[in-house]
Amino acid sequence: MSTAHEIAPTTGPGPTAPASGTTRTTDGRAGAAGAPAGTADRPEGSAAGPAWTADGPYSAALRTGRGPLFLRRADGWLLPLEVERWCADPDAVDLEVLGRCEGTVLDVGCGPGRLVAALAARGRPVLGIDVSEAAVARTVGLGGPALRRSVFEPLPGEGRWDTALLMDGNVGIGGEPHVLLCRLARLLRPGGLLIVEAAPVDVDERVEVQVVHPADAGGGAGSPFPWARVGAPALLCHAERAGWRAVDQWTAGGRCFAALRSRSTRTSAEPPKSTAVISNQRARKPSGGRPVASR
Ligand SMILES: C[S@@+](CC[C@H](N)C(=O)[O-])C[C@H]1O[C@@H](n2cnc3c(N)ncnc32)[C@H](O)[C@@H]1O
Repeated sequence: MSTAHEIAPTTGPGPTAPASGTTRTTDGRAGAAGAPAGTADRPEGSAAGPAWTADGPYSAALRTGRGPLFLRRADGWLLPLEVERWCADPDAVDLEVLGRCEGTVLDVGCGPGRLVAALAARGRPVLGIDVSEAAVARTVGLGGPALRRSVFEPLPGEGRWDTALLMDGNVGIGGEPHVLLCRLARLLRPGGLLIVEAAPVDVDERVEVQVVHPADAGGGAGSPFPWARVGAPALLCHAERAGWRAVDQWTAGGRCFAALRSRSTRTSAEPPKSTAVISNQRARKPSGGRPVASR
């Protein structure tokens, strides 16, 4: 992921796996934590695990707006997660991405919601989805509509979104970029725009990772789950195979992006019903939901 700069292998015993449990989504549906139901197109093992969804280090970090937090690969290397940046206001690089968005916007894996909130504040029809309850709560607290849902589950506005975002390494969700990109092609309208952030290095890897806080080096992290890291060249290959056409590429602030257009010729998709889609999912803005820390 672009936010990941390999820094050092860790040592010590592996983490303990938390018990899986049943959670309730923001729209009231019950299910296994983050596990999609009836999702034939999701990759093997792509159900978002307790690492993101349980009361673990990711949730704790989002509540305080502070790291450090890492994805730890099986070989012990740590990939930093930029929690402080995600919990801050959008920076100049983010704003350029937001300026490219068209029509209705779906932010996949919206995290604490800086992009969703910024678009909503501009009056743009936007929805964030994330499997993390803490991420959705924080997004809603910022005034951004958000839904606790996996991208591999049925979503509102299927086939009608104008723009989708896969930011901050989220092309790694599910561990199979090809499958994720195919899923995104079905979420967007024909000719829709997908903006993907690639890793800033030439990499194409599928890995098992855990979310860990440094204090968890000896245990306490979630169970391993599949993730992927792809640099721009690999991203374009995966995108081509999944039916996307690259229309732009740029780098800013050390981050790499690609703009892709769906090549689908589907004609059955209705025009976006953005108001209906968004208003049905908009959650009330609770008080006191501002980020605790920003930089
Ligand atoms: C690398 S973080 C990116 C954070 C985010 N883009 C931001 O602005 O803060 C990955 C995010 O994707 C979410 N996620 C993981 N698997 C998911 C899935 N299957 N569907 C939707 N979101 C998922 C995680 O909960 C997490 O918030």
